[in-house]
Parts: sequence; C-alpha cells; structure tokens
Amino acid sequence: MSPALGEKIAIPSPESTDKISSCFNGDWLRGYVRGKLRNDPVYAESAAIIAAFPAPILDIGCGPGLLAHYLNACGIQVPYHGLDTDRRKIDSARAAATGLENVCFEQADCLPLPAWQGHVMMIDVLHYLDAGKQALLLHAAISRIAPGASLTIRTVIRDRSWRFHVTRVEETFIRSSRWIQGGVKHYPRIDELMRPLEDAGLAAETLPMFGYTPFNSYLLVARREPVPAAT
Ligand SMILES: C[S@@+](CC[C@H](N)C(=O)[O-])C[C@H]1O[C@@H](n2cnc3c(N)ncnc32)[C@H](O)[C@@H]1O
Repeated sequence: MSPALGEKIAIPSPESTDKISSCFNGDWLRGYVRGKLRNDPVYAESAAIIAAFPAPILDIGCGPGLLAHYLNACGIQVPYHGLDTDRRKIDSARAAATGLENVCFEQADCLPLPAWQGHVMMIDVLHYLDAGKQALLLHAAISRIAPGASLTIRTVIRDRSWRFHVTRVEETFIRSSRWIQGGVKHYPRIDELMRPLEDAGLAAETLPMFGYTPFNSYLLVARREPVPAAT
C-alpha cells in the first residue's frame, strides 16, 4: 500500500546523523552531511516512499551517497545503486560506505542509464542537465520503474515566484564554489515534467520541498501501478 505523499516515518536521531557524518573525510564534508541529513526533508520523504514498497533503488546524481546512509539508518535494507558523474563525490561515497551492505557507487553520466527495475531517485540533479537531456533522462527513468515502485524527483521548478529568483542567485554561488561541475543548464517548468509522466500513464503527485531554504524546490513522485495479485 503506498503512503500518501508527505506521510512521515521515524527519522534518524541526531546521534545517528552524527555517526553517519563521521564516516566522511574532512570537516567541511562532515558538516555538510550532518546539516543535510538533519535539515533536508527530502531524505525522510524518500525513505517513507521506499519503506512503503521496498524495492531496489537507482539513485541518479547520488553525490556522496547521503540517501544510502539515511535509508540504512531508518532500517530500510534494499539494494542501492548510486551513480554520479563526479569522480570526487563517488570516491567520497565509496570511502564512507564501508559499513553499508548491498550498496554500490558508480562514476557514470546519467545517460545512458543502466538497465534497472525498481525505484528511481533523482534528488537535485535534473536542472544540471540541458532540456534535451532532461527529456531523454525522464523517458529512460520512467521505463525503469518496476510495478508498484516510483520515480521520485526533487528539482527546482521554473515559475514566477520569488523563490525561483532566489534559487537562480544561489546557483551562481554554487557554480563559483565548484561543488557542482558545470552548473545549472535548465530549470524545468512543471508541465515539462508532468507531461511525460502522464503520457506514460503514471499517477504523479507534487509537494513543495523547500525545507528551511528559500529555494523553489518541489518533489514529484510518479508511481507505477502494481501488478494485480492473481485470484
Ligand atoms: C546537488 S547534488 C545532489 C546530490 C545527491 N542527490 C544528494 O541528495 O545529496 C547534484 C549531483 O548531480 C550530479 N550530476 C550532475 N550532472 C550529472 C550527470 N550528467 N550525470 C550524473 N550525475 C550528475 C553532480 O555531480 C552532483 O553530485
């Protein structure tokens, strides 16, 4: 049974997120990991989605692998495959994941996507691709959602809100810090994301996912209907 979007699960304690951050190298990265895991609601939301229908996870643009640690801290044990184009982040993810089972990290571009059937996650990655690549990736990701599983996307949405303008300014700082190679290519409008999901016959829901930030981030969750049980 799928949860309603926004449904809560027990979240890891501060001691648990401290323990996770201590697996990473360097004070800056430890602070970043601790802050993200404690304050960013996207991980608890993702964990609730996966807990409701445990299935293997493909995490596109996984960064240092925070989702894998968060799920483990929630007691959610499913095979996890993270891929990211950035060699430094994959090295950090691998070094920090020695205690995690059934987890692998691959340095790869998101296109072409590997063969997969299960959940597909894209947390804060889509806007680093140009519009053409976003469309191709969406199409590829949709085809990898197993019956009963979901495609979960968090992205900045292009609209007329003050949040969108603040986000654009923030991304110029991220680019100059070189935390994300290449910087933003295209902020999608909501209809650019919803149309391919609806065309594929998927029921999609959206939820604001700002957390404590001023940024214009939304969560989209598209579920594929489970195969009906034989009678
Ligand atoms: C803002 S980070 C999000 C990391 C992670 N999803 C998280 O929640 O912590 C965006 C990530 O997308 C990755 N990325 C950008 N373009 C990519 C591409 N073409 N293929 C794979 N990963 C990409 C970046 O290297 C970066 O690690």
